[in-house]
Amino acid sequence: MEQYAIKGGNPLVGEVEIGGAKNAALAILAAALMTDETVLIDNVPDVSDINAILSAMQDLGAIVTRLGRHTVKINASQIHTLVADGEELKKIRASYYLLGALTAKYKEARVVLPGGCNIGSRAIDQHIKGFKALGVDVRIEHGLICNKAEHLKGSHIYLDVVTVGATINTMLAAAMADGQTTIENAAKEPHVVDVANFLNSMGANIKGAGTDVIRIRGVEKLHKTEYTIIPDQIEAGTYMFAAAVTKGDVTVKNVIPKHLESISAKLMEIGCEVEESDDAVRVVASKRLTHTQVKTLPYPGFPTDMQPQITVALGLAEGTSTVTESIFENRFKYVDELTKMGASIKVEGNTAIIDGVSRYTGAPLVAPDLRAGAALVMAGLAAEEYTVIDNIQFIERGYEDFHLKLQGLGAKIDRVTSEKELQKFKLKVG
Ligand code: EPU
Repeated sequence: MEQYAIKGGNPLVGEVEIGGAKNAALAILAAALMTDETVLIDNVPDVSDINAILSAMQDLGAIVTRLGRHTVKINASQIHTLVADGEELKKIRASYYLLGALTAKYKEARVVLPGGCNIGSRAIDQHIKGFKALGVDVRIEHGLICNKAEHLKGSHIYLDVVTVGATINTMLAAAMADGQTTIENAAKEPHVVDVANFLNSMGANIKGAGTDVIRIRGVEKLHKTEYTIIPDQIEAGTYMFAAAVTKGDVTVKNVIPKHLESISAKLMEIGCEVEESDDAVRVVASKRLTHTQVKTLPYPGFPTDMQPQITVALGLAEGTSTVTESIFENRFKYVDELTKMGASIKVEGNTAIIDGVSRYTGAPLVAPDLRAGAALVMAGLAAEEYTVIDNIQFIERGYEDFHLKLQGLGAKIDRVTSEKELQKFKLKVG
């Protein structure tokens, strides 16, 4: 029974160090399988999704050595199976990157269909389209995606929707295909660029990542590298919004401010002060937030992974706001939980209409998925009295030391595993 116990009502103040980007790391770790030489990767976040992919890589025969909490050494010269179907792997979305990486190197792989947060139907047709265009025979059999090719041949691929996953997977496979591949309508997220930079550091030839046309000239072999993963834009954004909802003053450190522009812009629009320096952003919220409109969009638009966090903030803002989710069709499941805290939010189709209330009140809540779970924690930190959040394993998929980092900012929060610990927490915080 792991839960977060929270006593809300005090502003978050201080500095918080942001870790490596989970969604970049998941792809980069899988891509480390594409060489027989040893790869050293730094700034790997210690979260459960990362541990799931690393253990799946070990099951395939990769030698994974942790040189510290955030540094991993991988050698994939002894891969002994091309089937990845472990129980842990079934729960994560990024299992599909193993497919791209193994197909690139071995022209064959069988990987369990991806799981991940239940936020919509989450099709994989564009991944399949990319693989097929490169000459792969793709079949779905017994719950596995089965890829097999005689050889991979560069191609021209137009993605029908902007998708991070299919852009990266096509890039992985094309990196070792014969000839040139062009991916049009590619996703431009910072982690797409990070994966391309990682592959290039191993000897790949990828140009244009970060724009909507990526050109890849396939190479026969990749070699060893040492690489540091970029900071996590969404972890940073979550603490920035935590400052906003608690009327706090928080500096997120070790970030790339450019990656946070859409988040900073919305915070300023709703009445926060945002100060940027080279690798830090400070958010100060000294007055009541004001209403706004927001629509989630592919990068550089406002990220879908920040949608629940901004909704929690606007739930406390003066006036009526709207939040439109344009990436995933089922990402408002947490709204019922917020309603228990006194929020006034109506969801119509893919838009939440929010009438700001002046306060939230603590309540027992259930985290429905990773980002919504983090947003409910933020709501608890802003609320009067106690909030207890269940299903925190979702939150731990993507936030390292969430409660400890929040404690460092003065939050009254603890991770409890029994009723007794919960009572102890209540006695401690008063
Ligand atoms: N889509 C298709 N066909 C495909 C692939 C995607 O129609 O073959 C659609 C999706 O249904 C969705 C849109 O395209 O409507 C975007 O999907 P995308 O491929 O970009 O998302 P994803 O790979 O499933 C990753 C992250 C998500 C993040 C999204 C958007 C990982 C492991 N997951 O998911 O992260 O929300 O990109 O940025 O990288 C999270 O970290 O909490 C999380 C959910």
